Amino acid sequence: MSILYNNFLRPLLFKFDPEFAHDLTCNLLDFANRSHILKVIAKTLIRTESAPVDLFGLRFPGFVGQAAGLDKDGRFPGISSALGFSHIEVGTVTPGGQPGNERPRLFRYPESDALVNRMGFNNRGSKALAKHVSKFYPKGNRRSPLGINIGKSKKTPIELAGDDYLTAFTDVARQADYITVNISSPNTPNLRSLHQKNYLLPLLKSIRAHNLEWANKNDQAPLPCLLKISPDEDYRSLESIISIAVESSFDGIIATNTSANRKHMGCMNSYEKGGLSGTPIEENSTRTIRFIAKLTDFKFPIIGVGGIFNADDASRKLDAGASLLQIYTSFVYNGPLFPSALANSLAYRKRRWT
Ligand SMILES: Cc1cc2nc3c(=O)[nH]c(=O)nc-3n(C[C@H](O)[C@H](O)[C@H](O)COP(=O)(O)O)c2cc1C
Repeated sequence: MSILYNNFLRPLLFKFDPEFAHDLTCNLLDFANRSHILKVIAKTLIRTESAPVDLFGLRFPGFVGQAAGLDKDGRFPGISSALGFSHIEVGTVTPGGQPGNERPRLFRYPESDALVNRMGFNNRGSKALAKHVSKFYPKGNRRSPLGINIGKSKKTPIELAGDDYLTAFTDVARQADYITVNISSPNTPNLRSLHQKNYLLPLLKSIRAHNLEWANKNDQAPLPCLLKISPDEDYRSLESIISIAVESSFDGIIATNTSANRKHMGCMNSYEKGGLSGTPIEENSTRTIRFIAKLTDFKFPIIGVGGIFNADDASRKLDAGASLLQIYTSFVYNGPLFPSALANSLAYRKRRWT
């Protein structure tokens, strides 16, 4: 099957405009997700043999999860689970949804195993996502936990960003196994200023208070909340972000999102404007993980993401201090059998948290 993907399907898909190919693939995955029999066949044919990871009170059947952005509207988490992803992060969703930036907004660079995107949180909205997921991948009946990644709408001023996060939280909470607060997309104007203390501290505190209130009202435990950060922060900024996340009782960090800078090893000046992902950001993402892990004495959970293309890349992130991993760009380049192959190549690794 991977020979089929590498020699036939990928060359065919790569003849098309990247976003057209992406939409086509998502439609096929959506179709497969609606079919019980196709999911059973995928689960039976694709064997993933990893040690489970217990984290945030959840059991993950392996290290390798699906990063946010691939399935923005939660259309196919069931089939992603059948393909061997240990967890699936859907979104980013905003309240009410929005069309995103103008096309073209997704670009491939196969010679450097990279993508650049400036999608701008195109999504159908947090309510629509929750409704779809409750029908096709309902909570309580999942093999791979579902994270729901929330963000702010383009039109919302940064001073009112908190309102968007709280609304999206309320909309999706019942269907989420964990929530990710995304402050790190480079494609929503000013979003990254939420990394600054004057914005971040009140934002995370209000989300924490909202989470406790929601849990009380629904007679449930509060949801694990993670903060997704940029790979472009310096160490001083990272120290401030992590201390705020810890102080606000957040449960962990996702490091990292795409990069807006072009100072990475092997980076090309000809890249389009937008968020860079894949191999060129691997080193920076890993450095960010290592710094956070050392800063917190390896006690604050980290999900590592950014440029993982093989077992060596994945091991570097786990050695740096990540407890779980996510992939996006390598899934586009390596196809549907890659998540299980990568997970199987890490089966020998011991989990960090028990
Ligand atoms: C086309 C595209 C869209 C993305 N959309 C989102 C998003 O909506 N929310 C988010 O948190 N991250 C988003 N990401 C970032 C990925 O989740 C991931 O953090 C990043 O791509 C680095 O991982 P990778 O090198 O394995 O791709 C997107 C990435 C790509 C390539």
